[in-house]
Amino acid sequence: MPAARGLASASPIPQIARMGTPPSSSEIAPAPQPRRVFLLGATGTIGRATLRALNRRGHEVVCFVRPRARAGLELAATKSLLAGVTVRFGDVADPHSLASDGFCGERFDALVSCMASRTGAPKDAWAIDYQAHANALAAAQKAGVTQVVLLSAICVQKPLLAFQHAKLAFEKALIDSGLIYSIVRATAFFKSLSGQVERVKRGKPFLVFGDGTLTACKPISDDDLAEYLAECLGNENRCNAILPIGGPGEAITPRQQGEHLFALLGRAPRFRHVPLALLNGVVGVLGGLGHVIPAAAEKAELARIGRYYATESMLVLDPQSGRYDAARTPSTGTQTLFDYYAGLVDGSAAAERGDHAVF
Ligand SMILES: NC(=O)c1ccc[n+]([C@@H]2O[C@H](COP(=O)([O-])OP(=O)(O)OC[C@H]3O[C@@H](n4cnc5c(N)ncnc54)[C@H](OP(=O)(O)O)[C@@H]3O)[C@@H](O)[C@H]2O)c1
Repeated sequence: MPAARGLASASPIPQIARMGTPPSSSEIAPAPQPRRVFLLGATGTIGRATLRALNRRGHEVVCFVRPRARAGLELAATKSLLAGVTVRFGDVADPHSLASDGFCGERFDALVSCMASRTGAPKDAWAIDYQAHANALAAAQKAGVTQVVLLSAICVQKPLLAFQHAKLAFEKALIDSGLIYSIVRATAFFKSLSGQVERVKRGKPFLVFGDGTLTACKPISDDDLAEYLAECLGNENRCNAILPIGGPGEAITPRQQGEHLFALLGRAPRFRHVPLALLNGVVGVLGGLGHVIPAAAEKAELARIGRYYATESMLVLDPQSGRYDAARTPSTGTQTLFDYYAGLVDGSAAAERGDHAVF
């Protein structure tokens, strides 16, 4: 279908509600029982927000990070990113480092992990999403931890990709461990749905697969998800539970994202429709090359990740019908993707690119 050029007038600009700021410490009641928390992934998007949420509740947090965190940030920069909290440096892939540099023979009440492979490539996924977590679980048990809060992803309910199998393998290890677990399977983050804002601002069309309604999600903000994760600690309703979670409001398709973005810019919507066959072709070619060239095998998996997000919704999957069900996907929080888009358009918010964003 051609892009919708030549429309006479743009859609009216909708009422813009600005993104609420996260609650301050004075708005959040301290946790009835402050915990000593060992936090993994504190330098990542959700990890940073979760650290803030845990601090707001008065928990005592120790972050365990790798020295050269965030792809090249120096040690000093990592320290300033996590200023004011206890940061310990070491290698989560090494059980010895976890024990001696991380837990340091001390007692902890809880392990909270927002850590994940940054690429999703099979080797990295099994090393981090599974093995490093298994190491941390064993060390946490020795340190007296009784509850583990794990950030996972809603897409593991239909596992077709290596990183999903790695995440599921650790979910199972955690459930089998006998510790109290809260496995939070989140839907799409704002950063993963904002990759096209800049190109559309520059006058380019919004790219969609098919007609732009193949998939839908309930986007969740970093702070809303972080609040949800922090509230798992000591919350009986979230103990020994797998918790799918999305943000507030209705499920949104890529087409609706584009339409809203154009409305905010005061322009007529322009879409470019990318055929799924193109993505299938890329996956096929790279998959074929991957049998002889290892680097191509890794690229093929990244292309498969792209195709997965282009064709599967980030909503609860009804096992009976095999359909995604927005009504059965729980919501939390107050911040909406469209408020975030408004901030990106007027410059009051800054975009962070998702590692797995397709466009
Ligand atoms: N993007 C989405 O829309 C979405 C939706 C639902 C669920 N999720 C899931 O949410 C989780 C977190 O997402 P995010 O966006 O917050 O992740 P992120 O920003 O990529 O952060 C990943 C964190 O893991 C750490 N990490 C990665 N490899 C490591 C290693 N080898 N050693 C030590 N630490 C390592 C990173 O540390 P460095 O800073 O040192 O790299 C960082 O702190 C992922 O499991 C993802 O699958 C994502």
